[in-house]
Amino acid sequence: MTATAHRTRHLVLTGASGTVASLVARRLAPTGHRLTLTGRTVPGDRPRDATAGPGAAVRYLVCDHEDPASLREAFRGADAVLVVTNDPTRPQQDRNILRAALDASVGHLVKLSAAAVHDPGADDLVTSWQRENERRIRACGIPWTMIQPRSFMTHALAWAQDIRARSATAALHPDSRNACVAPEDIAEVIALALTDDVHHGRSYQLTGPQALSAQDQTRILAELLGRPLTCRALTRSEARAGFLRRYPPAMAEALLLSADRQAAGAKSATGDTVERLTGRPPTSFTRWATAHLHRFV
Ligand SMILES: NC(=O)c1ccc[n+]([C@@H]2O[C@H](COP(=O)([O-])OP(=O)(O)OC[C@H]3O[C@@H](n4cnc5c(N)ncnc54)[C@H](OP(=O)(O)O)[C@@H]3O)[C@@H](O)[C@H]2O)c1
Repeated sequence: MTATAHRTRHLVLTGASGTVASLVARRLAPTGHRLTLTGRTVPGDRPRDATAGPGAAVRYLVCDHEDPASLREAFRGADAVLVVTNDPTRPQQDRNILRAALDASVGHLVKLSAAAVHDPGADDLVTSWQRENERRIRACGIPWTMIQPRSFMTHALAWAQDIRARSATAALHPDSRNACVAPEDIAEVIALALTDDVHHGRSYQLTGPQALSAQDQTRILAELLGRPLTCRALTRSEARAGFLRRYPPAMAEALLLSADRQAAGAKSATGDTVERLTGRPPTSFTRWATAHLHRFV
C-alpha cells in the first residue's frame, strides 16, 4: 500500500446499477471517498446495495452514454472514472466517454475490459470492440488501468429459473471449461485500482482459481442444493435463439464464436492476479454459489 492510497478522491462509477460497478460501489461507499454513481435509471432506482456508510459521500446522477453533456457533468472534478459500457453495436458511447473524460481532465480511467483481448484469433465483435476501446484509452494521455476478467460466475444465474422449475441447466458446449471469476473479486481489484496510483499503466487479467465447465458447475450446484441436476447440450440454433432473446443479432453471433473459442480451450488458463493484488486466493465457484444459493432455490 502506498501513501497515495489514503487521499480522499472523487470517484465516478459508470454502469453503477450493473453487476460489477454495483459491487465496486458497495465496497467503496464506507471508505470515505466521494462517489458519483451514474446510469440512466438512477437516482430513482438506486444501485443495489450501494449503501453509504458513516461519513460516506455518495451521489447518484442520471447520465446517458449517448449524451455527451451528461457525461461531462458526471465527470467534472473526477480523480478517477470506472468505465463500464456494454453495447459493442454503439461504439459512439465509448467515444463519448473518452471525449468527456478529456474535456473534464479526469485523472485516471479504470476500464472494465475482457481477458479475451489477449486471445489469439479472437476477432468477434465484442472482443474487437474491447480491444479498440483499450487502444483508444491507452493513447489518450490520461493514466489508465485495464481490468480484463474471464467470464463472470454470475452467468450461472441464467440457469436459476430452469434449476428451480426443471432441475436442469443447458449450454452450447457443456464440457468446455472457463476460468470464470467472481464479480466480487473483480470489484475488489477495481476498488484498489481506483484508489491507488500504483496501478496506473497496468493491465490485470483476472480469473477464478480453476477452469470449470457447465457440467462441473451443474455438479457443484447439485451438491450444494442437495438434489440431482442435469446439464443438457444446446444445439447451435437453440443457443443462437437464446442469445437473440437478450441481444441484437451481431452480439448473438459474437457470443457463439466466443463459446466456440472456449470449446477450443482458449479460456481455461488461470492466473494469480487476484491473489497478488488482494492478498487472498480468488473466490471458488463453490464459494460464490454458496453465497448466492438462495437465487437457485
Ligand atoms: N459478463 C462477462 O462474463 C464479462 C466478461 C468479461 C468482460 N465483461 C465486460 O463487462 C462489461 C459489463 O459489465 P457488467 O456486466 O458489470 O455491466 P452490466 O451489468 O451489463 O451493467 C451495465 C450498466 O450500464 C448501464 N448502461 C447501459 N447503457 C447505458 C447508457 N446508454 N448510458 C448510461 N448507462 C448505461 C446500465 O444501467 P442503466 O440501465 O441504469 O443505465 C447497466 O446497469 C462489458 O464491457 C463486458 O464486455 C463481461
